[in-house]
Amino acid sequence: MTPMTNVTEQPARSTTNLSVAEAIKTRVSIRKYVQEPMNQDDLREILELTSLAPSAWNAQTWRFAVVQDADLKEKLKDAAYGQGQITSAPAVIVVYSDMEDTLATVEETAHPGMGEEGRVGQRKTFEGAFGQQDVAQRGQWGLTQANIAFGFLMLAARSKGYDTVPMLGFNPQAVKELLGLPEHVQFAGLLPIGKRAEEGYPQHRHNLDRVTKFY
Ligand SMILES: Cc1cc2nc3c(=O)[nH]c(=O)nc-3n(C[C@H](O)[C@H](O)[C@H](O)COP(=O)(O)O)c2cc1C
Repeated sequence: MTPMTNVTEQPARSTTNLSVAEAIKTRVSIRKYVQEPMNQDDLREILELTSLAPSAWNAQTWRFAVVQDADLKEKLKDAAYGQGQITSAPAVIVVYSDMEDTLATVEETAHPGMGEEGRVGQRKTFEGAFGQQDVAQRGQWGLTQANIAFGFLMLAARSKGYDTVPMLGFNPQAVKELLGLPEHVQFAGLLPIGKRAEEGYPQHRHNLDRVTKFY
């Protein structure tokens, strides 16, 4: 699956580099986007930054499917109950976890500095933790890790001057069929991404003391 589908002309690379605090403060959900393709190098950089997210035992269960093809976006919109941000955005990043792929290739995630011993240890760790669980159970654990990457992705995008809207309002079965994904994968969400063509709602959050206990 290539992220370069149907993109012939593209705007210049972003020169924006917001701090983490600036990215957090200026990220709001955007549902209308400027009608221009994503710069493909920016897209790759955002995904590379996202891939630096941490995960338990470095499992990196997240996988990305980048949809830029107009026809496929139309179909994705149908699977998302007609939500217009899917086709308004130049790209939609589908973030999902594939725990079965993670388990099958677990040696890849052992730190190279630990050599063969590390690879064997990594396999033992995962077999011990997940060997007795069924696919759905361990898939749920995989999703908790992919959700971390989903958060990183929104902030990485914002730091480079892009806007997004996280989405769980879609039919997962339909999205699996559209993208040819295996039955066992679990979705962190869809993420339309592009440059904002509206301001979105100002952030509205609980007061910190409403949601925090200090001990
Ligand atoms: C996991 C998740 C799923 C969401 N699903 C949708 C969705 O399907 N459609 C939509 O328009 N917004 C969706 N949202 C956006 C939320 O409505 C939005 O993040 C929330 O109201 C806070 O607003 P803000 O993102 O502008 O700060 C979702 C947000 C999250 C985190």
